[in-house]
Amino acid sequence: MGNDMERARISLCAALLGSMSLMATASSAAGDISAMVDAADPAAGQAAFEICAACHAIRPDEPTLIGPTLWQVEGRDIASVEGFAYSPGLKAVEGSWDRAKLDAFLRKPSAFAEGTIMGFAGIADDTERAAVIAYLETFAPGATSTTAAPVTHDFGDDWPQGPGSDLTGKVCSVCHSLAIVKQQGLSSERWDELLDWMVEEQGMNELTAEQRTEVIGYLSAHFGEP
Ligand code: HEC
Ligand code: HEC
Repeated sequence: MGNDMERARISLCAALLGSMSLMATASSAAGDISAMVDAADPAAGQAAFEICAACHAIRPDEPTLIGPTLWQVEGRDIASVEGFAYSPGLKAVEGSWDRAKLDAFLRKPSAFAEGTIMGFAGIADDTERAAVIAYLETFAPGATSTTAAPVTHDFGDDWPQGPGSDLTGKVCSVCHSLAIVKQQGLSSERWDELLDWMVEEQGMNELTAEQRTEVIGYLSAHFGEP
């Protein structure tokens, strides 16, 4: 009889522990993702993104692969890239991508959107998922790459050093290779116009007045009129 009670106590304990740990996972899933993304390292996310890059473009000048481009995916309506043949399952999900939805989808795509054609099991590790989301956010509208991402870029050996070289490299390499910049020779007025065009037509985030002065100063000093 003593034995039975002992057993009952143990199984009660196990049940309590079990439900407590279930509660803990549920709340960490819902509540803490924003804090985790804030604390995450976009550079680690960039490394983890390599597996995604097999199927997804991330910059606007990259060709579409097996999946839709993830350029500015956060804030975008779910399943909204023009011309991409989404699954009915993903199309049926309402709303736009935010941190919580990205977190849920990337944890287990098939649970978030039944019948999704994304052939990827998901990222089980919370820290890694948060880092990937932080990396995606370095391309989000309004999140200037200059403030969001301490991602290290390789600007190439022929990227001249000097005031503004780092800022300019970061701002411009968000969307395209720097080769397109290096081959130019423009006056500061023309660089100014080109930046307007990049902001108005190409979706570049507006720079602050100081940043713009620095970038144009750098561009016209090193890639100025011959
Ligand atoms: C094997 C190819 C493949 C891999 C690997 C892959 N994806 Fe996808 N992804 C897809 C496809 C295909 C879709 C479209 C899914 C659908 O329509 O159901 C998609 C859709 C998405 C969407 C929704 C985009 C939209 O426009 O609504 C996001 C976000 C996304 N993937 C992120 C990722 C991330 C981040 C990774 C890496 C952790 C990743 N994917 C890995 C193929 C892939
Ligand atoms: C938000 C994305 C984005 C950012 C950021 C961006 N660009 Fe561009 N840029 C584009 C797109 C898109 C094109 C057109 C590419 C094409 O036609 O292949 C382009 C084209 C160009 C061209 C070629 C213009 C031509 O006449 O063909 C130059 C030069 C250029 N960008 C310079 C820059 C510089 C310098 C910066 C940084 C200050 C920059 N871009 C930042 C998106 C961007």
